[in-house]
Amino acid sequence: MSTSPLFQPYDWNGVSLKNRMVLAPMTRGRAGKDRVPNVIMGDYYTQRTGGGLLITEASSVSPEGEGWVDSPSIYTADQVLGWKSITQRVHAAGSHIIFQMWHTGRASHSDFHNGDVPFSASAKKIDGDKVRTPNGKKDYETPRAMSKDDIARTIADYKQAAINAKEAGFDGLEVHAANGYLINQFLDGRSNQRDDQYGGSLENRYRLLDEILDAVMEIWPAERIGVRLSPNGVFNDMGCDDYRELFTFVAQQLDAKKVGYLHIMDGLGFGFHERGEPMTLADFRKLYTGLLIGNVGYDKESAEKRIADGDADMIAFGRPWITNPDLPTRFEHDYPLNSFDDASQWYGGGAEGYSNYETYRESSGKASLSAVSPD
Ligand SMILES: Cc1cc2nc3c(=O)[nH]c(=O)nc-3n(C[C@H](O)[C@H](O)[C@H](O)COP(=O)(O)O)c2cc1C
Repeated sequence: MSTSPLFQPYDWNGVSLKNRMVLAPMTRGRAGKDRVPNVIMGDYYTQRTGGGLLITEASSVSPEGEGWVDSPSIYTADQVLGWKSITQRVHAAGSHIIFQMWHTGRASHSDFHNGDVPFSASAKKIDGDKVRTPNGKKDYETPRAMSKDDIARTIADYKQAAINAKEAGFDGLEVHAANGYLINQFLDGRSNQRDDQYGGSLENRYRLLDEILDAVMEIWPAERIGVRLSPNGVFNDMGCDDYRELFTFVAQQLDAKKVGYLHIMDGLGFGFHERGEPMTLADFRKLYTGLLIGNVGYDKESAEKRIADGDADMIAFGRPWITNPDLPTRFEHDYPLNSFDDASQWYGGGAEGYSNYETYRESSGKASLSAVSPD
């Protein structure tokens, strides 16, 4: 039995997670045009069940929420069935899997919506790179500011997606409020310039997230719903001067709502807005009393340190887990890692560069295995 803090079980409100390693949500664009989860996606997740908790790639709650080529979704019967086959395989392999709920808002493009521009908190477009559409890379467009009806319909879409995720057999939900997608567009004071009850004060900017949580909590208990936040992130043109006050307020609200976990992208390796000192897991530990998951840029040693120091309960790993399907085994036995810097196969394609990576044992062969691994 390992003494590493990463390999101790964790009791998540009555669900026993076998270790502290979380598969970070990663969009891989393998679901095809109908956005139905398929067999190679099941292979990918099943191969990573050495982790105590897996979080799915971001998956749209509605056609309006789409904004990524070939990402999976959860609003058709076939999509629900596709996910069901994946949750069953993950459970049979002894792990747990959470569904990440996604709405891209202004990070989308009219090519995803039959020519209609996407909507957001305000009619303010992303200043930055281009968006990948089904018809190639294009400039971002100025979104339409959401009406009250748009907001009510979107909240209902989240609720229906929560129903569908339950039907698909997930162990919980993660509301994606990070990385500059719709909910983050409402939280951030630069992308949200509304003057109604969804804009202005911190309380108003937080309102959409609060109402979405209330809707999904009609379907799932609060203790099975996590929220992902990126307080330091710049991705999709995020970052506002009052980010500290904002995310302090949000974490306090989520604590009061007793959501099941907070997933904080505290590391800076996914882009930093540089508007002040980064917020840390220690900051969030003071604000939120449940399961706290850290992420971005962690390796075995830094993850162990965070958990041992008491700043986090679990750590999510993304990029290293793409090319190392058996990452927990490699960490536990100090096996070498495959490099994971090459982004060329991250998005789109088939099994190649996705579900065809070998475990250390497979790649080292039986002869060398007996030399390095007594178990
Ligand atoms: C290929 C790829 C796809 C990603 N897709 C998502 C996603 O769907 N949802 C999300 O919240 N974050 C997404 N992220 C961010 C990761 O969850 C994670 O925060 C990031 O990779 C940093 O962690 P790491 O340093 O362990 O890789 C993605 C990252 C990568 C590399």
